[in-house]
Amino acid sequence: MTSPSHVNVSLGERSYDIVIGSGLLGRLGDQLATHVANSHVVVFTDSNVGPIYLEPVVKQLETVAAKVSTITVAAGETSKSVSICDGLWQQMIELGADRRTIVIALGGGVVGDLAGFVAASFTRGLNFIQIPTTLLAQVDSSVGGKVGINLPQAKNMVGAFWQPQTVVIDIDVLKSLPDREFAAGMAEVIKYGVIMDASFFDWLESRTEKILARDPEFLTELIATCCQCKAKVVEEDEKETSGRRAILNYGHTFGHAVESVFGYGNFLHGEAISIGMVAAARMAKKLAMVDQDFCDRQLAIFEAVSLPVNCPPGNESQLVAAMKHYKKVALGKLRFVLPTKFGEVVLVDAPDDDMIGQCYLSDLES
Ligand code: NAD
Ligand code: GLY
Repeated sequence: MTSPSHVNVSLGERSYDIVIGSGLLGRLGDQLATHVANSHVVVFTDSNVGPIYLEPVVKQLETVAAKVSTITVAAGETSKSVSICDGLWQQMIELGADRRTIVIALGGGVVGDLAGFVAASFTRGLNFIQIPTTLLAQVDSSVGGKVGINLPQAKNMVGAFWQPQTVVIDIDVLKSLPDREFAAGMAEVIKYGVIMDASFFDWLESRTEKILARDPEFLTELIATCCQCKAKVVEEDEKETSGRRAILNYGHTFGHAVESVFGYGNFLHGEAISIGMVAAARMAKKLAMVDQDFCDRQLAIFEAVSLPVNCPPGNESQLVAAMKHYKKVALGKLRFVLPTKFGEVVLVDAPDDDMIGQCYLSDLES
């Protein structure tokens, strides 16, 4: 067994380690001993992940913690709601949770965001540990401290910046992840190459077969590189005040609109972001910021990992309206993160609505 990789997120007293490797769940007791020894731990998971991983995780935690409780929510985005969160606060009281209780999120981005928000809010803040089980959560949502829930008007509208104590990434859990979910995570992986690390993009581009084979050593390196990228951005702009952290939203303005117009069930988050990044590159091309070769290379890598690159045409005005609605609710200005070359993006004010809508259309349709 190769030794795990470590990535540090350096945030002063909120600094933490991300541990990435194989077989980590099987030695979770040792791994987390310094964090949970003699404490009451509440493990949050969902109805898909729980039946596979909860029992071995609880067994390991019982070797070090004083008490281990579990809470399972229904799998899926609808669990990130105010009413589910209310029920979770009540359950925390019933389980005897207090200010010293530690919350562990065992699951994908939904469980991480939801359990993290419970941790941030219950008794004004509990220590929190992330054990992400989707590729998307391992490379993005478990790192950086954004936690939260959705309102009917908009996604992630209620939340906090609440950094975990540590993140444990066992790549073996990816073996049970459905292909479509794995591909969705790849959208966020490729994003780092485009926004800040051109050599990582080249590295990925020449290794799509290894990506699809989910080779463990390769995945450890891939995930560690993504975590390093995310850590760097979060260290520079933890609370998204300088604009630096906004680069992580590449493709997200276009992508959120896709999620909202086509419904959260039709496109997974990562799939919508793939479509969004392709649209953002088209916008950059229309503004003469990148050339056709840039767009073609980005499109090709998404296609190689089986990600969608277009949504059904004919919905452009609805998509632009959804984008504007989201920005109005979120009190933001409509701006786009656009590439200038591989490894570099800038923030650009919105062009006119027609041009935004056109960016959803492939060359064949426009
Ligand atoms: P998810 O949590 O819904 O997980 C996807 C599906 O995979 C679910 O059905 C889940 O039960 C299942 N699953 C998880 N791990 C599994 C495993 N190892 N084996 C088998 N099945 C498994 O979705 P996600 O893509 O992980 O996360 C999406 C969420 O993350 C969205 O709510 C999004 O807003 C949020 N997000 C947050 C941040 C952040 O910075 N906080 C960043 C990106 C995305
Ligand atoms: N996923 C975007 C961020 O963490 O800021």
